[in-house]
Amino acid sequence: MRKGAAVRLEKDFSIDHYLKRQKKFVDSHLDDFLPSAHTAPEILHETMRYSVFAGGKRIRPILVLATGEALNGELDSLTCLACAIELIHTYSLIHDDLPAMDNDDYRRGQLTAHKKFGEGIAILAGNALLTLAVQTLAEISSVPEKTRLAVILQLCQAVGSRGGMLAGQAMDLETQGKKFSKEHLEQIHSAKTGALIQISVRCASLFAGASQEVCHNLSAFGSGLGLAYQIVDDILDVEGSSSDLGKTSGKDDINEKATYPALYGLETSKNIATDLVETAIQQIQFLGPAGKILRELAHFISVRRF
Ligand code: IPE
Ligand code: IPE
Ligand code: MG
Ligand code: MG
Ligand code: MG
Repeated sequence: MRKGAAVRLEKDFSIDHYLKRQKKFVDSHLDDFLPSAHTAPEILHETMRYSVFAGGKRIRPILVLATGEALNGELDSLTCLACAIELIHTYSLIHDDLPAMDNDDYRRGQLTAHKKFGEGIAILAGNALLTLAVQTLAEISSVPEKTRLAVILQLCQAVGSRGGMLAGQAMDLETQGKKFSKEHLEQIHSAKTGALIQISVRCASLFAGASQEVCHNLSAFGSGLGLAYQIVDDILDVEGSSSDLGKTSGKDDINEKATYPALYGLETSKNIATDLVETAIQQIQFLGPAGKILRELAHFISVRRF
């Protein structure tokens, strides 16, 4: 199972190089977890693979691995967790793009799953990715059963309908075209995107056997980072080009979405995102030099252009 060692801190650390290397590592394991495109029903597995391997930055799995490494966690179980979280994220994107939701034609630089394979298969591929993610976690044998169950439970809560990702997605749809408050906007963004990013860091610390206090601090880090991630996504929808983003920019305005730039304007939105990331970084100062990669990742999240 082990295909490569976690990246050790180098003297001349380059975040671009690190992200590329970690993406390669994650992708090779995702390839192992996903059924081959020749497995029946071929169309379903082809669609799952199409969406997972279309591209994507792999930020969530990379955060899992970086958290695990900062805490000296065991690589195999962290790799399974990293892949499971990317499968869930890809499922959320497939469904997010459907005509009944954001109605997008491009994702990760290619046609969305429903455009390429039809809506029915796209919905099923999303469902299948979520199911495979939970199965992947249930099958991990290298962590104590109690920890594995805690991770599955907390991950399901984070992507579920009571305050999790699905709650956020439902609020996002409900708020389209309507007036919204600052508090409501923060709630939407923290739930639809923040929750999965926060739980990536939290579950990685659980797998690494961290103390309650360490898990708590890393969760706080993940929470700020997760909210900032969606704020930057909103900003890029306004400022970025479709070719850089791999998805059609300017859609939030067309869909009358509740976004930070719509409420605060671009400059204030940028300041809010930067402040959130800086505060998040404060939460992990206790890691000292071991937290360097997490801090670099947090910084990347606030300055990313795609
Ligand atoms: C896009 O996520 C949707 C959000 C939840 C903000 P990413 O920007 O991480 O998308 P990929 O995985 O790199 O394609
Ligand atoms: C997506 O938010 C959140 C989830 C998929 C859970 P957006 O709708 O803003 O993401 P993009 O801009 O389509 O990637
Ligand atoms: Mg959406
Ligand atoms: Mg969308
Ligand atoms: Mg967006």
